[in-house]
Amino acid sequence: MREIEQRALQAYREHFLEEPLLIASAPGRVNLIGEHTDYNGGFVLPCALDKRVAVAIGLSDHTLFYSADFEETRPLCEKRGGSWADYPSGVVWAMQEQCLALQPVQAAFAGEVPLGSGLSSSAAIEAATAIALDGLFHLEMRKKGLAVLCQHAENAFVGVNSGIMDQYASLLCQAGTALLLDCRSLEATQIPLNLAEAGLALLICDTRVSRELGATGYNERRLACERAAYTLGLKELRDAHLEDLDKHCGEEQKRARHVITENARVLQAVQALHRQDFGAFGRLLSASHRSLREDFEVSTPELDAFVEIALHSSALGARLTGAGFGGCALALVRSEDTGVLLRKVQQSFEARGFTRPECFSFQPASGAEIVK
Ligand code: GLA
Repeated sequence: MREIEQRALQAYREHFLEEPLLIASAPGRVNLIGEHTDYNGGFVLPCALDKRVAVAIGLSDHTLFYSADFEETRPLCEKRGGSWADYPSGVVWAMQEQCLALQPVQAAFAGEVPLGSGLSSSAAIEAATAIALDGLFHLEMRKKGLAVLCQHAENAFVGVNSGIMDQYASLLCQAGTALLLDCRSLEATQIPLNLAEAGLALLICDTRVSRELGATGYNERRLACERAAYTLGLKELRDAHLEDLDKHCGEEQKRARHVITENARVLQAVQALHRQDFGAFGRLLSASHRSLREDFEVSTPELDAFVEIALHSSALGARLTGAGFGGCALALVRSEDTGVLLRKVQQSFEARGFTRPECFSFQPASGAEIVK
């Protein structure tokens, strides 16, 4: 068992004074490329982070959730209450909506995915809850079905109009691979990503400028994309082409250009990974950042600063990852260069008066699983 799963087990024992029936966990995710394409029916390429949310679960008279991180117990909420308990409650709600046979449970959660950083701590708690309930009640749902259910919980219960990427990544990613997901057909393909073998690492910089998706321009960007598709008589921007852009103007044109070029970049990035051409892969990451900064306008001074510093200190590529508006950026770097880059980032952020960032490197880890 991983340390975080031990922590959930310990919390369950201490809090409910018995042994759980099952322990499960699910990771946060880092999207390598393919940003703001999921809700346009396009392509994304996330991988699982090695930081997870774990849950220990058993039966009870009334459903109760305990968080070891917040040190509080909360009952199942009937509707959104604005706390961490909305996520497991949303999953229970979505399962009940599908008339799945559940009984009351007690569950203890422990997490290590930074909150509000764009690393999908919310998808991780949803996925951990879903896979635990699926295992406990022998629902026999496939992981893809659980991902769609978790997205429904996030959209309809929590009230964030997110796409399918985060929940899919948390449930379906595998160690040492990235997941190419066609967000229209939901076809998922594992793409080998053995960075360690190539002497490379992914460095994440959490700018600690935290954002709640609901409170950012996320929903507004989504609406702009829907409008741009409507202008072209399309259901989704996935089907738009560069030649269509002169039918748009202003903001709509910029948003559409990002989505069209970003979808193409994801497919090129997959080709580059198949060829093990990490130089080309890195250049696509950097091009994605420029497009997110200039056309989609979701970057921040901190994210831009990290990308600039990384590219000036021999990173192969760098970009913001996740929705933007704060949160995290990533850089593809030679393993031996990480120490120098880390120091430069810390120094430069301090000199610019930015909040001290949290940086760490990782290798693609495994998706949601039942561990006991
Ligand atoms: C958030 C959403 C995802 C996706 C990204 C942007 O993480 O939850 O569905 O839209 O933003 O790529």
